[in-house]
Amino acid sequence: MFWQKTALIALILTLTACLQTENSSSLDAAMYGGVGGTPEFQAARTVMSQSCNGCHAYHTQTEAQLIAAGLIVAADPEASQIYYRLVGSTGIEGPKDMPQGGALSSSDAEVIAAWIENLTP
Ligand code: HEC
Repeated sequence: MFWQKTALIALILTLTACLQTENSSSLDAAMYGGVGGTPEFQAARTVMSQSCNGCHAYHTQTEAQLIAAGLIVAADPEASQIYYRLVGSTGIEGPKDMPQGGALSSSDAEVIAAWIENLTP
């Protein structure tokens, strides 16, 4: 009788642990649009959540949504509004006006560029 109770408690504890793991990953999914993404995407998302969040919700969108919205072009940062509006363009004069009322460090801009460059067209 005693060992049965112990086994039952152990089973309940194991199940509870599994449920907790599942809860935290579904929370991530809810927060990040259902995608984990590459490390480059995670890093870019962190920059966007810190520097663009007050005015845009880019960090809550998936790569596919950002591409569909015409905000990024896979493997082409300069053609991607999200990068182009940060740094202008080396080819043609760019607007270089985001984040509005602030500035992004060049290392943060590099994080955005690296993410877009790594996307498969
Ligand atoms: C203080 C508010 C503010 C912040 C912060 C800000 N933006 Fe914007 N952004 C705007 C406004 C307003 C517009 C629309 C006017 C325009 O296009 O210039 C805009 C437009 C844009 C556009 C053109 C497409 C669109 O969605 O309208 C892009 C791309 C963009 N922002 C990127 C960024 C990125 C990337 C960041 C963070 C690094 C950022 N912005 C931070 C206010 C902001």
